[in-house]
Amino acid sequence: MNRKLLKSVREYKKQAFLAPVLVTLEVLLEVLIPLLMANIIDIGIMEGNMNYIIKMGIVLVIMAMLSLAFGAKAGQVAAVAAAGYAKNLRHDIFYKIQEFSFGNIDHFSTSSLVTRLTTDITNVQMAFMFSIRMLARAPIMVVLSWIMTATISLKIAFLMLVTIPILGGVLIFIAKKAHPHFIAVFDEYDVLNNTVQENVNAARVVKAYVREEHENGKFHKISQKVFELFTKAEMLVSWNAPVMNFVMYTVVLLIVLLGGEDIVLGTMMTGELTSIMVYAMQILMSLMMVSFVFVMIMIAEASSDRIKEVLEEVPEMVDKEDALTDVANGDIDFEHVDFSYAGEDGNLSLKDVNLHIKSGQIVGIIGGTGSAKSTLVQLIPRLYDVTRGCVKVGGQDVRRYNLEKLRDQVSMVLQKNVLFTGSIYENIRWGDENATNEEVRRVCRLAQADGFISEFPAGYNTMIVEGGNNVSGGQKQRLCIARALLKKPKILILDDSTSAVDTRTDALIRKAFREEIPDTTKIIIAQRISSVEDADMIIVMDNGQINGIGTSEELLKTNAIYREVYESQVKGGAENEQ
Ligand SMILES: Nc1ncnc2c1ncn2[C@@H]1O[C@H](COP(=O)(O)OP(=O)(O)OP(=O)(O)O)[C@@H](O)[C@H]1O
Ligand SMILES: [Mg+2]
Repeated sequence: MNRKLLKSVREYKKQAFLAPVLVTLEVLLEVLIPLLMANIIDIGIMEGNMNYIIKMGIVLVIMAMLSLAFGAKAGQVAAVAAAGYAKNLRHDIFYKIQEFSFGNIDHFSTSSLVTRLTTDITNVQMAFMFSIRMLARAPIMVVLSWIMTATISLKIAFLMLVTIPILGGVLIFIAKKAHPHFIAVFDEYDVLNNTVQENVNAARVVKAYVREEHENGKFHKISQKVFELFTKAEMLVSWNAPVMNFVMYTVVLLIVLLGGEDIVLGTMMTGELTSIMVYAMQILMSLMMVSFVFVMIMIAEASSDRIKEVLEEVPEMVDKEDALTDVANGDIDFEHVDFSYAGEDGNLSLKDVNLHIKSGQIVGIIGGTGSAKSTLVQLIPRLYDVTRGCVKVGGQDVRRYNLEKLRDQVSMVLQKNVLFTGSIYENIRWGDENATNEEVRRVCRLAQADGFISEFPAGYNTMIVEGGNNVSGGQKQRLCIARALLKKPKILILDDSTSAVDTRTDALIRKAFREEIPDTTKIIIAQRISSVEDADMIIVMDNGQINGIGTSEELLKTNAIYREVYESQVKGGAENEQ
């Protein structure tokens, strides 16, 4: 298995080493038992020596019990080692994902990360457990049993020497054939999980569009494919048992033939033949186990590659040792910024953007969908890095700051925002864990959320369900704004964050911003002219470029896009009201 992954065994190394040691002891005893049995038959029974039978019988029972105890303990420590290993792996992946930047997250789909954290880890765990038990057991068992056989009958030992590689070869051949099918199954699992997750997440949308049947069909298709692939793989593996049985009975037959001849000639005793049979069984069983573990390891190989991919993903943003921790003020500068989501050679989503915003200003951003408004502001808290040029906050390149400190000072309400399971208090405190209840209330008043929260029977202790589905769209947006405000940022960015809030409340929020947090730079992306009309500066975005900058008054004179939007909303709205 993969070396890099094995590092995660860590504190469970002791158990991982102990398991094969215990297994070895178990096997040693197990191999001696048939020998003892042969003696009981050949000496005790044949000579009618009852004393010998009882004495050896007791030794046999003790050995069997010891072997059992070692076996049980080996199973236990192997289970602990494997479960512990899986736990550590899961932690490592989880922590790694926390280090990911937005760019890193774009590389993996959510459902594929979930599969990696669950199914793939389970596969690796199982393979690890069986490896440390069986891979120690099988070779020792085969070698020792063969040596024991050889001491009794060289002829039969030679017969086994021919059979073992043939059988081993066939079993491994089957496992190898099945391997690609198992890999295909796990790839298809990703698609399956993706469909399930998308549907569960968006269950309400599916219902609203009455798409249940379509989605059922989609799910059925994938699930059918997984079924088919699995059947194919398992059908190949199912050849293992009949092949085994065939070989086993052939070998038994040959042993009986060869051994029977010796017994008739008087060169071998009955008890010896019995123990040879047992050794033969043990060898064949061990080979069967190896082929079983072999299949498992091959499945786990694919899984461990997928786990490794996550662990080896290089976090795009790592703080430098001498990173700046203080953001001087809320100045923002864009200097010849180009940006592409796909890196250096990708399509540019932002083209040569130059922009200077003074600390404390209110800046509105307006523009059609896909004009790169969100892309533009995401560069300020460094959710993504520029492709060319530079973005400065407080006069310094954002890449020079400690990421956490920068994001504490540049608070952003994302366009696709979510709340988390927990009370309103807990949700708002994402902004600042140590904030007092009074501070939480203050930001909620600023965000015009205090009113509706107080009307909930449980007030600020009201529980929010996953994603925030039990509050209205406008309420959720206001809670998200409050959460961002709690950071007391020097720059506050609202990405379409009041789209579901009525115009009056929207105006109250902006008024509160102006009066209560005058020093904070406020950037407001909006579709409504009324949300940005009174800003100190409005940026009109078009197709990844700045089309115009100025106050509403100036833009009305100079900018065609702005004038068109203004007229369609303000004038059109006024006419409609008449
Ligand atoms: N994570 C992403 N990966 C790749 N491309 C993206 C990503 N996010 C956005 N884009 C692309 O970048 C361009 C600008 O998108 P952006 O989200 O900035 O537009 P927007 O102006 O905010 O639109 P809207 O008003 O609908 O929110 C679009 O062409 C979009 O397809
Ligand atoms: Mg957007």
